[in-house]
Amino acid sequence: MRGPMKAFSVLYFLCCTFSISVVSTAVDTIGTTQSIKGGATIVSTGGIFELGFFSPGNSKSRYVGIWYGKISTRTVVWVANRDIPINDTSGVLRLSEEGILVLIDDTNSTIWSSNPSRSVNNPVAQLLDTGNLVVRDGNDNDPENFLWQSFDYPCDTFLAGMKYGFNLATGINRVLTSWNSSDDPSSGDFTNELDPNGVPQFYLRQGSVVMYRTGPWNGLRFTGMPNLKPNPIYTYEFVYSPKEDYYSYQLINNSVVSMMVLTPDGNLQRFIWIDSSQSWNVYLTAQVDGCDRYALCGAYGSCNINNSPACGCLEGFIPKFPQDWNAADWSHGCVRKVPLKCRDGEGFLKYSGIKLPDTRESWYNMTMDLNECKKLCLKNCSCTAYSSWDVRGGGRGCILWFVELIDIREYPENGQDIYIRMDASELAAYRRSKRVRTIVISVVCLGMALLGLCLMLFVLKKKPRREGNIVDDPEQKSTDGSKSENFDLPLFDFATIACATENFSNKNGLGQGGFGQVYKGILKEGQEIAVKRLSSESRQGLDEFKNEVSSIAKLQHRNLVKLLGCCIQEDERMLIYEYMCNKSLDSFIFDPKQSRLLDWPKRFHIINGIARGLLYLHQDSRLRIIHRDLKASNVLLDNEMNPKISDFGMAKIFGGDETEARTRRVLGPMFLCSGYMSPEYTIDGLFSVKSDVFSFGVLVLEIVSGKRNRGFCHQDHKLNLLGHAWRLYKEDRPIFELIDKSVKDSCNPAQVSRSVHVGLLCVQQCPDKRPSMSTVVLMLSSETALPMPQEPGFLIDRDPSDMDSSPSRRERSSSNGLTISLPEPR
Ligand SMILES: *[C@@H]1O[C@H](CO)[C@@H](O)[C@H](O)[C@H]1NC(C)=O
Ligand SMILES: *[C@@H]1O[C@H](CO)[C@@H](O)[C@H](O)[C@H]1NC(C)=O
Ligand SMILES: *[C@@H]1O[C@H](CO)[C@@H](O)[C@H](O)[C@H]1NC(C)=O
Ligand SMILES: *[C@@H]1O[C@H](CO)[C@@H](O)[C@H](O)[C@H]1NC(C)=O
Ligand SMILES: *[C@@H]1O[C@H](CO)[C@@H](O)[C@H](O)[C@H]1NC(C)=O
Ligand SMILES: *[C@@H]1O[C@H](CO)[C@@H](O)[C@H](O)[C@H]1NC(C)=O
Repeated sequence: MRGPMKAFSVLYFLCCTFSISVVSTAVDTIGTTQSIKGGATIVSTGGIFELGFFSPGNSKSRYVGIWYGKISTRTVVWVANRDIPINDTSGVLRLSEEGILVLIDDTNSTIWSSNPSRSVNNPVAQLLDTGNLVVRDGNDNDPENFLWQSFDYPCDTFLAGMKYGFNLATGINRVLTSWNSSDDPSSGDFTNELDPNGVPQFYLRQGSVVMYRTGPWNGLRFTGMPNLKPNPIYTYEFVYSPKEDYYSYQLINNSVVSMMVLTPDGNLQRFIWIDSSQSWNVYLTAQVDGCDRYALCGAYGSCNINNSPACGCLEGFIPKFPQDWNAADWSHGCVRKVPLKCRDGEGFLKYSGIKLPDTRESWYNMTMDLNECKKLCLKNCSCTAYSSWDVRGGGRGCILWFVELIDIREYPENGQDIYIRMDASELAAYRRSKRVRTIVISVVCLGMALLGLCLMLFVLKKKPRREGNIVDDPEQKSTDGSKSENFDLPLFDFATIACATENFSNKNGLGQGGFGQVYKGILKEGQEIAVKRLSSESRQGLDEFKNEVSSIAKLQHRNLVKLLGCCIQEDERMLIYEYMCNKSLDSFIFDPKQSRLLDWPKRFHIINGIARGLLYLHQDSRLRIIHRDLKASNVLLDNEMNPKISDFGMAKIFGGDETEARTRRVLGPMFLCSGYMSPEYTIDGLFSVKSDVFSFGVLVLEIVSGKRNRGFCHQDHKLNLLGHAWRLYKEDRPIFELIDKSVKDSCNPAQVSRSVHVGLLCVQQCPDKRPSMSTVVLMLSSETALPMPQEPGFLIDRDPSDMDSSPSRRERSSSNGLTISLPEPR
């Protein structure tokens, strides 16, 4: 999608100024006497969008498309002839007398044409600054009267101002269809469209299989997109009207460049163009985790990503087939403990904080209140549940379900209430258990209140000492103080830390990290801490450092180590973390004795936890952090063996950039030969989220095999662990040849081979082929077919010494004369 197209079109412009039949670059319209061909383009008045012929990536196929005019990365937002490429240099786009846009080749056969709603005398095609290509009457600017517009026929991109939904009057339903791959605009596997049945909701399908559902609009957001909330980038609305239903958004600041795309791997994502790094960043992804997989837990099942397993039955329901359910096949869902018989005394149980079930076959009324809604549902024996249609102002409107409730999940915030019909006996049982619970809770509360009182007294007594520990930074006082107000992270003073670590004594050393020495310490209060004393390589100034640290401290996730504070004194920079009693993952998986403590279920739990932590860093946290140094020794384990990623944000502190970029290689050679680094990073110094995905893949294979990637030995060959796993996979050898012998008894073969498969997908040579972390989380928690991995990068160990020397390292001979081919880096 990149290319020096601008220069080319200018050149073309110079060549063609004498040919009046071809549109020059300065205009934004095509009249009936004009046409576009070759490298000519039209540009919207503000220069924001450009229309012309293009060839994506390395392909020779040519398409007519619209792309952003002002950004350096060629980003195509619309393609006219996406499924019928032009295979030579012919091709002319013109507007007929009837107002039809036609793309013809040199035999005059039509490759693509628009289908205007009517014809006018004086048609003109115009590219608007919104990215909309419209055909209109030359004298009529009213959007209502456009004969045709590209916004009605989107490809994979949903731009600001577009009405994404359907129009009942014209019969148009706007569907996003993914590109087949990032350099092939032909229709891919994934579509996303608003379904008019029942309460409208967007369905994301792969082929004809529903993969994800946004759920209905509830006045504030889609019930299945809790992360859609007011933000500084765009405003959004959903319009219900008798004529049309659609979702649309407007950018708050028009100089911000942002779009929503259905990516080739089936993620619905919002991207923002970041000028400073000249790259697109993911701002929001509709599908956040494995629970977003459509109907993962079956009917009356509910998915909660923080539970293990994620699927559970709703209260009052039990698994339909307990055996399947316990083997993690949740597709059959749950059934009522007590079936409904439409008897007297039936009522409703309220469930809160959920994503409303599929509304395809539901009924709704926008004005009814919740009480009327309840009555209506109760009156009809086949009504299974009801809920508000709009959650604003305490709820209004009514949705009724008449079928099994499917695709429910729980959210920690921004979930909704639903009332599910229950038999009288169930309701009575529930009330009894609630009464018991209330009593227990009251007792506990009373106890807690007393405890709280005690604690308060205790704290009041201790207060002076605490203050002695957390001091103001002397440098803050010397500045005007306005900056320091934002710095809400506790600052520890040097003396406190020195005391806690017994003057950084060696016996308290926990190891050498990539960024400095780590010590264990105990504060006077008895709290155990881990202190990272940063080496002096940090290039940041004090304010920058503080900013980064305080923003990183705000990242909170159960799979990230918690940053408690920092210590700054002259050249000293230290980070204070919670202490993890079980140390790091490498001390378990690579140690013959310790490795027995991690059976397969624990390992699978760890793999999933690391994936979620990384996903949070990549896309759910506000900072979007690339870890860049993910490895077994950077994954710590708490007392319940929950994995916690440490050292995240170090790349930021050490002056790294947020997105794909070239690094200045501030990281020493130690770092380069760790065995976790992706080829594009090692060779080109190019890193992106996909480099982290690579490291994650290595880590997964290490967790499964109990072997280090670097230093892996095998009697048959000289491949590293990746090469070995790849070889086993390719030769279709049984998976247990790879797994650590201490997990053989406890292993679940399906989970193991799935993990290995995902691991291999993550370490593929080409970064674009590697799945994103959201896809990884999805893949790990479901049972759908996975794509075939291609060859991994780095099949053999490489010494850092030979990395910079030989430019051509396609082949390398091993000592026994066997030649191993190493894929050429990009
Ligand atoms: C170009 O080649 C593709 C694939 O062979 C074919 O489907 C398409 O119709 C061709 N385009 C034209 C304009 O002939
Ligand atoms: C294509 O159409 C143009 C004008 O309609 C005509 O001049 C030209 O001869 C046609 N070319 C072919 C190959 O039919
Ligand atoms: C889409 O891509 C796949 C492989 O990436 C290829 O096999 C398939 O033919 C492509 N489809 C089209 C329509 O080009
Ligand atoms: C819009 O964004 C630009 C560049 O990011 C900035 O310079 C400008 O001040 C912003 N305008 C408003 C009204 O916020
Ligand atoms: C919705 O309910 C209200 C109040 O019961 C009623 O007046 C109205 O006709 C209903 N609308 C539809 C479309 O059923
Ligand atoms: C209950 O609702 C269903 C679905 O709307 C409807 O077909 C059926 O006639 C209703 N039954 C009664 C008794 O109202």
